[in-house]
Amino acid sequence: MRLARLGARHPGLAIDPAASTNLAGAEFELGVGARLSIGPGVVTERRRHALRFLLGPGASVEIGPGTWLRTDLGPVILACFAGARMVLGPESFLNGAHLSAKRELVLGRRAWVGPGSRVFDSDQHDFDAERPEGMAPVRIGDHVWVASDCTVLKGVTIGEHAVVGARSLVTRDVPPHTLVLGAPATPRGRVGDRSRVR
Ligand SMILES: CC(C)(COP(=O)(O)OP(=O)(O)OC[C@H]1O[C@@H](n2cnc3c(N)ncnc32)[C@H](O)[C@@H]1OP(=O)(O)O)[C@@H](O)C(=O)NCCC(=O)NCCS
Repeated sequence: MRLARLGARHPGLAIDPAASTNLAGAEFELGVGARLSIGPGVVTERRRHALRFLLGPGASVEIGPGTWLRTDLGPVILACFAGARMVLGPESFLNGAHLSAKRELVLGRRAWVGPGSRVFDSDQHDFDAERPEGMAPVRIGDHVWVASDCTVLKGVTIGEHAVVGARSLVTRDVPPHTLVLGAPATPRGRVGDRSRVR
Protein backbone atom coordinates (compact mmCIF):
# COMPACT_ATOMS: atom_id res chain seq x y z
CA MET A 1 0.00 0.00 0.00
CA ARG A 2 2.75 2.47 1.01
CA LEU A 3 4.69 1.81 -2.19
CA ALA A 4 1.56 2.01 -4.34
CA ARG A 5 0.72 5.40 -2.77
CA LEU A 6 4.21 6.66 -3.63
CA GLY A 7 3.78 5.57 -7.24
CA ALA A 8 0.49 7.46 -7.42
CA ARG A 9 2.13 10.62 -6.06
CA HIS A 10 5.04 10.61 -8.54
CA PRO A 11 4.17 9.89 -12.17
CA GLY A 12 7.23 8.20 -13.69
CA LEU A 13 8.08 6.30 -10.51
CA ALA A 14 7.70 2.52 -10.74
CA ILE A 15 8.53 0.53 -7.61
CA ASP A 16 8.31 -3.23 -7.75
CA PRO A 17 5.93 -4.56 -5.06
CA ALA A 18 8.77 -6.81 -3.82
CA ALA A 19 11.01 -3.81 -3.00
CA SER A 20 11.41 -2.71 0.65
CA THR A 21 8.59 -0.64 2.10
CA ASN A 22 11.34 1.46 3.77
CA LEU A 23 11.61 3.20 0.39
CA ALA A 24 8.51 5.12 1.44
CA GLY A 25 10.80 7.20 3.71
CA ALA A 26 13.06 8.26 0.82
CA GLU A 27 12.99 11.66 -0.81
CA PHE A 28 11.82 11.69 -4.43
CA GLU A 29 12.13 14.67 -6.75
CA LEU A 30 11.16 13.81 -10.32
CA GLY A 31 11.10 16.45 -13.04
CA VAL A 32 8.63 16.37 -15.91
CA GLY A 33 9.06 13.20 -17.97
CA ALA A 34 11.62 11.65 -15.56
CA ARG A 35 11.44 7.88 -15.02
CA LEU A 36 12.67 6.01 -11.97
CA SER A 37 12.35 2.25 -11.89
CA ILE A 38 13.13 0.34 -8.67
CA GLY A 39 13.38 -3.42 -9.04
CA PRO A 40 12.33 -6.33 -6.84
CA GLY A 41 14.32 -6.92 -3.67
CA VAL A 42 15.80 -3.40 -3.55
CA VAL A 43 16.38 -2.60 0.13
CA THR A 44 17.23 0.37 2.30
CA GLU A 45 17.00 1.23 5.99
CA ARG A 46 14.03 2.84 7.72
CA ARG A 47 15.52 6.32 7.94
CA ARG A 48 13.69 9.36 6.63
CA HIS A 49 15.36 11.42 3.88
CA ALA A 50 18.65 9.51 4.17
CA LEU A 51 18.01 8.20 0.65
CA ARG A 52 17.44 10.84 -2.03
CA PHE A 53 16.46 10.43 -5.67
CA LEU A 54 16.88 13.71 -7.55
CA LEU A 55 15.86 13.41 -11.21
CA GLY A 56 15.75 16.30 -13.67
CA PRO A 57 13.27 16.53 -16.54
CA GLY A 58 13.50 13.49 -18.84
CA ALA A 59 16.11 11.74 -16.66
CA SER A 60 16.05 7.95 -16.47
CA VAL A 61 17.21 5.87 -13.48
CA GLU A 62 17.00 2.09 -13.13
CA ILE A 63 17.80 0.39 -9.83
CA GLY A 64 18.47 -3.28 -10.49
CA PRO A 65 16.96 -6.14 -8.52
CA GLY A 66 18.45 -6.95 -5.14
CA THR A 67 20.35 -3.66 -4.84
CA TRP A 68 21.12 -2.41 -1.32
CA LEU A 69 20.99 1.37 -0.85
CA ARG A 70 22.50 1.40 2.63
CA THR A 71 22.05 4.56 4.70
CA ASP A 72 23.47 3.40 8.08
CA LEU A 73 26.85 5.06 7.52
CA GLY A 74 25.71 8.11 5.55
CA PRO A 75 23.15 9.37 3.06
CA VAL A 76 22.78 7.76 -0.35
CA ILE A 77 22.19 10.37 -3.05
CA LEU A 78 21.34 9.58 -6.66
CA ALA A 79 21.29 12.74 -8.78
CA CYS A 80 20.41 12.31 -12.45
CA PHE A 81 20.21 15.57 -14.36
CA ALA A 82 17.94 16.49 -17.28
CA GLY A 83 18.01 13.88 -20.03
CA ALA A 84 20.74 11.79 -18.36
CA ARG A 85 20.69 8.06 -17.65
CA MET A 86 21.77 6.08 -14.60
CA VAL A 87 21.68 2.30 -14.27
CA LEU A 88 22.59 0.27 -11.19
CA GLY A 89 23.19 -3.39 -12.00
CA PRO A 90 21.56 -6.24 -10.15
CA GLU A 91 22.67 -6.68 -6.51
CA SER A 92 24.78 -3.54 -6.52
CA PHE A 93 25.61 -1.96 -3.17
CA LEU A 94 25.78 1.76 -2.43
CA ASN A 95 26.90 2.31 1.14
CA GLY A 96 26.55 6.01 2.02
CA ALA A 97 27.64 7.03 -1.50
CA HIS A 98 26.73 9.78 -3.95
CA LEU A 99 26.26 9.20 -7.70
CA SER A 100 25.76 12.05 -10.12
CA ALA A 101 24.95 11.74 -13.85
CA LYS A 102 24.66 14.45 -16.46
CA ARG A 103 25.21 12.02 -19.37
CA GLU A 104 25.37 8.36 -18.36
CA LEU A 105 26.53 6.45 -15.33
CA VAL A 106 26.32 2.66 -15.32
CA LEU A 107 27.18 0.27 -12.49
CA GLY A 108 27.42 -3.43 -13.26
CA ARG A 109 26.32 -6.51 -11.37
CA ARG A 110 27.34 -6.57 -7.68
CA ALA A 111 29.29 -3.31 -8.02
CA TRP A 112 29.99 -1.70 -4.63
CA VAL A 113 30.60 1.96 -3.77
CA GLY A 114 31.67 2.62 -0.19
CA PRO A 115 30.99 5.26 2.47
CA GLY A 116 31.76 8.85 1.55
CA SER A 117 32.58 7.95 -2.07
CA ARG A 118 31.34 9.92 -5.05
CA VAL A 119 31.02 9.21 -8.73
CA PHE A 120 30.60 12.14 -11.15
CA ASP A 121 30.25 11.88 -14.93
CA SER A 122 30.78 15.65 -15.20
CA ASP A 123 32.90 18.34 -13.57
CA GLN A 124 29.69 20.09 -12.45
CA HIS A 125 31.12 23.55 -13.33
CA ASP A 126 32.71 25.25 -16.32
CA PHE A 127 36.49 25.31 -15.98
CA ASP A 128 36.82 28.90 -17.21
CA ALA A 129 35.29 31.26 -19.78
CA GLU A 130 36.80 29.29 -22.69
CA ARG A 131 36.29 25.76 -21.39
CA PRO A 132 32.77 24.62 -20.61
CA GLU A 133 31.99 21.92 -18.09
CA GLY A 134 33.50 18.56 -19.08
CA MET A 135 31.17 15.55 -19.25
CA ALA A 136 31.67 11.93 -20.30
CA PRO A 137 29.98 8.65 -19.38
CA VAL A 138 31.26 6.59 -16.46
CA ARG A 139 31.09 2.81 -16.32
CA ILE A 140 31.82 0.72 -13.25
CA GLY A 141 32.03 -2.95 -14.17
CA ASP A 142 30.65 -6.10 -12.64
CA HIS A 143 32.03 -7.08 -9.20
CA VAL A 144 34.01 -3.84 -8.78
CA TRP A 145 34.69 -2.54 -5.26
CA VAL A 146 35.15 1.21 -4.85
CA ALA A 147 36.12 1.54 -1.16
CA SER A 148 35.51 4.47 1.22
CA ASP A 149 36.12 8.18 0.52
CA CYS A 150 36.98 7.69 -3.16
CA THR A 151 36.09 9.95 -6.07
CA VAL A 152 35.59 8.69 -9.62
CA LEU A 153 35.72 11.42 -12.27
CA LYS A 154 34.15 11.88 -15.71
CA GLY A 155 34.89 9.51 -18.56
CA VAL A 156 36.29 6.70 -16.42
CA THR A 157 35.64 3.03 -17.11
CA ILE A 158 36.52 0.64 -14.28
CA GLY A 159 36.91 -2.90 -15.55
CA GLU A 160 35.23 -5.88 -13.93
CA HIS A 161 36.64 -7.29 -10.67
CA ALA A 162 38.78 -4.17 -10.09
CA VAL A 163 39.31 -2.66 -6.61
CA VAL A 164 39.75 1.04 -5.85
CA GLY A 165 41.49 1.53 -2.48
CA ALA A 166 40.25 3.91 0.22
CA ARG A 167 40.73 7.65 -0.42
CA SER A 168 41.65 7.17 -4.07
CA LEU A 169 40.88 9.57 -6.92
CA VAL A 170 40.18 7.80 -10.21
CA THR A 171 40.91 10.01 -13.22
CA ARG A 172 41.77 7.35 -15.83
CA ASP A 173 40.37 3.96 -16.89
CA VAL A 174 41.12 0.99 -14.66
CA PRO A 175 41.77 -2.36 -16.39
CA PRO A 176 39.78 -5.42 -15.22
CA HIS A 177 41.12 -7.36 -12.19
CA THR A 178 43.37 -4.44 -11.15
CA LEU A 179 43.92 -2.79 -7.75
CA VAL A 180 44.38 0.97 -8.02
CA LEU A 181 45.34 3.38 -5.22
CA GLY A 182 46.15 7.00 -4.63
CA ALA A 183 45.41 10.43 -6.08
CA PRO A 184 45.47 10.10 -9.00
CA ALA A 185 44.91 6.37 -8.68
CA THR A 186 47.57 4.15 -10.25
CA PRO A 187 47.73 0.36 -10.70
CA ARG A 188 49.28 -1.47 -7.74
CA GLY A 189 48.38 -5.11 -8.17
CA ARG A 190 46.15 -7.83 -9.46
CA VAL A 191 42.70 -8.79 -8.19
CA GLY A 192 41.27 -12.29 -8.61
CA ASP A 193 37.67 -13.40 -8.95
CA ARG A 194 35.34 -11.24 -6.84
CA SER A 195 32.06 -12.75 -7.99
CA ARG A 196 31.49 -14.63 -4.68
CA VAL A 197 33.16 -12.32 -2.17
CA ARG A 198 31.23 -10.73 0.70
C1 LIG B 1 40.15 19.74 -12.16
C2 LIG B 1 39.41 19.04 -13.26
C3 LIG B 1 38.24 19.88 -13.76
C4 LIG B 1 40.42 18.78 -14.38
O1 LIG B 1 39.79 18.11 -15.44
P1 LIG B 1 40.57 17.95 -16.83
O2 LIG B 1 41.18 19.24 -17.19
O3 LIG B 1 39.61 17.32 -17.78
O4 LIG B 1 41.74 16.99 -16.45
P2 LIG B 1 42.18 15.67 -17.20
O5 LIG B 1 41.17 14.61 -16.97
O6 LIG B 1 42.53 15.98 -18.63
O7 LIG B 1 43.50 15.25 -16.40
C5 LIG B 1 44.78 15.84 -16.61
C6 LIG B 1 45.81 15.08 -15.79
O8 LIG B 1 45.66 15.42 -14.41
C7 LIG B 1 45.28 14.28 -13.63
N1 LIG B 1 44.23 14.78 -12.75
C8 LIG B 1 43.02 15.25 -13.12
N2 LIG B 1 42.36 15.68 -12.04
C9 LIG B 1 43.17 15.47 -10.98
C10 LIG B 1 43.03 15.72 -9.61
N3 LIG B 1 41.90 16.29 -9.12
N4 LIG B 1 44.05 15.37 -8.78
C11 LIG B 1 45.17 14.80 -9.27
N5 LIG B 1 45.36 14.56 -10.59
C12 LIG B 1 44.37 14.89 -11.43
C13 LIG B 1 44.81 13.26 -14.64
O9 LIG B 1 45.04 11.93 -14.19
C14 LIG B 1 45.64 13.58 -15.84
O10 LIG B 1 46.92 13.04 -15.68
P3 LIG B 1 47.59 12.17 -16.87
O11 LIG B 1 47.57 13.06 -18.08
O12 LIG B 1 48.96 11.85 -16.34
O13 LIG B 1 46.71 10.97 -17.03
C15 LIG B 1 38.87 17.65 -12.79
O14 LIG B 1 39.96 16.82 -12.48
C16 LIG B 1 38.02 17.79 -11.54
O15 LIG B 1 38.52 17.81 -10.43
N6 LIG B 1 36.69 17.88 -11.75
C17 LIG B 1 35.75 18.19 -10.67
C18 LIG B 1 34.84 17.07 -10.35
C19 LIG B 1 34.11 17.39 -9.07
O16 LIG B 1 34.60 17.14 -7.98
N7 LIG B 1 32.91 17.95 -9.21
C20 LIG B 1 32.11 18.21 -8.03
C21 LIG B 1 31.39 19.48 -8.09
S1 LIG B 1 32.20 20.86 -7.32
